[in-house]
Amino acid sequence: MSELASESWTQRGWEASADLVVVGSGVAGLTAALDAAGLGLRVVVVTKDAADAGSTRWAQGGVAVVLGDMPGDSVGAHVTDTITAGAGLADAAAVAEIIADGPAAVARLRARGAVFDPGPDGRLARTREGGHSAFRVVHAGGDATGAEVERALVAAVADRRLPLLTGHVAVDALRDEDGAVTGLAVLDDEGRPGVLRAPAVLLASGGYGQLYASTTNPETATGDGIALALRAGATAADLEFVQFHPTVLYTGPAAGRRPLITEAVRGEGAVLLDRAGRRFMTGVHPLADLAPRDVVAAAITRTLAATGTDCVYLDATAIPGFAVRFPTVHAACRDAGVDPAREAIPVTPAAHYACGGVVTDLHGRTAVPGLYAAGEVARTGLHGANRLASNSLLEGLVVGARAARVVAADRRTARWAAAVRPTPAMPLAPRESVQRAMTAAAGIGRDAAGLAAASDAVEAATRASVPADRAGVEDAALTLLAQAVLAAAGTRTESRGCHVRTDFPERDDVWQRTSLVLALDEAGHPVVLPGAIPEGRAA
Ligand code: SIN
Repeated sequence: MSELASESWTQRGWEASADLVVVGSGVAGLTAALDAAGLGLRVVVVTKDAADAGSTRWAQGGVAVVLGDMPGDSVGAHVTDTITAGAGLADAAAVAEIIADGPAAVARLRARGAVFDPGPDGRLARTREGGHSAFRVVHAGGDATGAEVERALVAAVADRRLPLLTGHVAVDALRDEDGAVTGLAVLDDEGRPGVLRAPAVLLASGGYGQLYASTTNPETATGDGIALALRAGATAADLEFVQFHPTVLYTGPAAGRRPLITEAVRGEGAVLLDRAGRRFMTGVHPLADLAPRDVVAAAITRTLAATGTDCVYLDATAIPGFAVRFPTVHAACRDAGVDPAREAIPVTPAAHYACGGVVTDLHGRTAVPGLYAAGEVARTGLHGANRLASNSLLEGLVVGARAARVVAADRRTARWAAAVRPTPAMPLAPRESVQRAMTAAAGIGRDAAGLAAASDAVEAATRASVPADRAGVEDAALTLLAQAVLAAAGTRTESRGCHVRTDFPERDDVWQRTSLVLALDEAGHPVVLPGAIPEGRAA
């Protein structure tokens, strides 16, 4: 805490103040922090683990962006691909605005020191991923784009000497009697409380892949920011659209974080095979192996069910210089005893990305004065029912910067007198029970009976408890997110994008353009707001 000049000690632990508290130190959070500091704000970044422990550093493919130097591609084509991938739910205005801001955002990131891979002609190299109609994804370190983005931003934060408070989990937003944010209550690694007084809190804490037993996400992805926002009175939407990445390395039934096999491997020629060596994506979609991610993940799931196997295979043996082009994937495969230059890689889908989140405008503002959100934690409307590959680092860069500007423009005066209330008891179920229920019933292929059974299982395992440490805060968040995802998934009686219902296998146009918005009821339980449900479809 020594880096916070205004630190003092009270009965509730330490207190400090800032103009903006950023929760999370990935691409959106650090971009916002650096930009806000550049605008003269006193910024503190809080993160519950090490600075680079979030999802950003694990991103492989790259940043989808049209820089104007590749004939045949255009911002309009990137917009169209994003809307197509979003399966009828992406917000066209959000897509157009965020994508248009991409080139400037990437230029700022490069100015901060991020180094992207050059192509043979001196321009940046581009790759292609599922759903993209052109080679437009810039990448770094071959397949280590997120690691390079994180490295550059953490170094820029250190250069600027911005206070970065690691090992502190955000518990709840402090609010005044009108509900506006006045700061943030945190717990350190030992469970000791602290208070950051600030008129603005920006959530950039990532998604909730840890709801599932098998995920590409790190252990930090427990939905804390969405849970905190809902408890503060914000709304969340599109939570049923949990994106499963089609290809993680299959190493057996072990749970936890699985090594990603970037879609760029398919973008550069690899093809999916079933156990008999047959290509099964041909005929499923005009883009075959490079169909949007939801289509490929669902096709793999059907193939696994039809063949009674645990994995399919990704044949990348035709890609020259695989180890140089994809060093991260190559190392993970070799660790598992697979040589991608000689043999097909065993792969399976795993939970990867939250397409929904805290409802914000295109500047990160939530419905709660003083509370902002950017990156995976937020729902801007860019992704709709299925995110287009490599649009996430782009969104973090763009909306992080936009949020910094509106925080500076909003420049609210906090009412410092607002009392810090003790942390309330929260519904909390053991993580294993939540993961078991969600993995069994809320993955790819859901139905009413399974979703109801999962809700009952989570409910039966839930007790009210005051979170005393990081694990408690995370378990409370996972419990709330499980309830919310199950409520939304049970309400949407159709299949669309990442939301695949076996009892409603088709798209239903009645749901077209309808996002399910959730808030907490008086008992603190997440409920779908009735206004969002089309007539005759109420659950
Ligand atoms: C990948 O490289 O396949 C993942 C990139 C992303 O999730 O956007």
